[in-house]
Amino acid sequence: MVENTNETVLATRTVNYIEKLAGTHPGYRRAHAKGVLFQATFTPTGKASHYTKAAHLTRNEVSAIVRFSNSSPNPATADALAAVKGMSVQFQLPEGDIHSLVGITLPIFVTKSPQTFFDMLKTITSFKEGKPDFKEMVKLFATYPESRAAFQMIRKLKHTKSYAKGRYYAVHAFYLINEEGERTPVKFEWEPELGVETFTVKELATLPPDYLEAELAQRLKTEEVRFRLHIVIGEEHDPTDDPTKEWPKERTRIDAGVLSIHAKEMIKDDTFIFDPTILPTGIECSDDEILPFRKDAYAVSYERRRKGQ
Ligand code: HEM
Repeated sequence: MVENTNETVLATRTVNYIEKLAGTHPGYRRAHAKGVLFQATFTPTGKASHYTKAAHLTRNEVSAIVRFSNSSPNPATADALAAVKGMSVQFQLPEGDIHSLVGITLPIFVTKSPQTFFDMLKTITSFKEGKPDFKEMVKLFATYPESRAAFQMIRKLKHTKSYAKGRYYAVHAFYLINEEGERTPVKFEWEPELGVETFTVKELATLPPDYLEAELAQRLKTEEVRFRLHIVIGEEHDPTDDPTKEWPKERTRIDAGVLSIHAKEMIKDDTFIFDPTILPTGIECSDDEILPFRKDAYAVSYERRRKGQ
């Protein structure tokens, strides 16, 4: 049961508005509804050991579950219609610890505060068919200027040719904690070993609705798919509480390890929840307010889909 606090009330109302905008699709996630799950393995390089005592980033090879998804809340949305794609990873550490690392093909988010996200969603729901026209979009940016950068990126974002060829960003800042108790602000990114490749608009028009799932299933029959985990080290004044802001490109990056997806079969029994606040010893949430809000919203969505609602 999701507990009834002010925060969970806002999360519940937010999920209700997502349903108002995109419809209710029983049994599906209320966002990133269409997806595929695979078994994987994560092997650390050990290069992050200076910053964290988290076992999977320092010494132990661990099993992982990975879910690739189309960001739309409607599971019938064609892959070519939603440019933002997701990659959720659940590292399974010794002694039952879990690290959920949830990424998208965009480095930033649309709002800094949960209330603004809710207000914006409510405003968009009031537009005709939930799709703002140009004038309404200008008005929206004037009301919520913090969302302008993310929306502009979404507008320009090119569609990935394969789930295996996307770069995925975990967006929020987190803290790594080492054996001495030192805290380092960081961001996580997945870099595809196959390189980033995107479609032209002309190529997109010819694709079947579920091309990403089919392409990945086919690829995994003959080869492993690998992603390198990059940890970006934050410096003084890099915001840790604002997912609408990128950190400077020149920040130090650590190659923390490699995720190998070697499964030939998808996981059919999807009982998973990828809550980005579920972290092992050695990693902590930052002061970003969107993180605990996501915990609540994901719990609401999970409870509904689990009951087949
Ligand atoms: C206001 C903030 C947000 C809200 C209310 C929200 C809402 C949701 C909901 C309700 C789900 C379905 C959860 C489930 O049933 O398990 C979901 C899934 C997802 N969200 Fe968010 N989200 C937010 C921010 C973000 C951000 C910043 C990212 C960027 C990393 C993100 C990436 C994803 C991904 C990749 C999934 C699919 C997870 C999976 O594979 O199970 N979301 N979101």
